[in-house]
Amino acid sequence: MSKAVCTICHFLYDSRLGLPDLGIPSGTPFWMADDSIFMCPQCWGSKDIFIEVEESIIEVEDPNDLTELESEHVPIYTVEDETLVVRVWQVGVEHPQDRDHMIEWIEVRDEYGEVVDRVYFGLSDEVTASFSIDTEDDFEVYASCSEHGIWKWISHESTGL
Ligand SMILES: [Fe+2]
Repeated sequence: MSKAVCTICHFLYDSRLGLPDLGIPSGTPFWMADDSIFMCPQCWGSKDIFIEVEESIIEVEDPNDLTELESEHVPIYTVEDETLVVRVWQVGVEHPQDRDHMIEWIEVRDEYGEVVDRVYFGLSDEVTASFSIDTEDDFEVYASCSEHGIWKWISHESTGL
């Protein structure tokens, strides 16, 4: 899900609701909402005065013992040379990639929590992404579902993944 707040009047945009009166259907992530029609329904401010709201993060620790909901969402990754390959997909479990329910993005953050890179996904896309990273530095991987929030996998050496 995706939320953004109007910096003038504090109206909160929620992607699950959209702004149907303005032609932005429910399920539209903030970043996908059309700039030319998006405006604050309270103060009529433009899209660029909104800032995205950080959501709570669901952390998953053991990829071998997951509920179905966790399996559908957790971003599993492998590192080869300087390339980080991330996927939100496990055998037998596939997340929907529909307009009202999809994995919106996968992102990598550095050790200070700053976003280094983010890959967006659209309808019917395969949810996998590659990032170039410096493997000497710590990093974290996140995935966002339009319905179920932001997910993070805490990797352990012992899992061998
Ligand atoms: Fe979901």
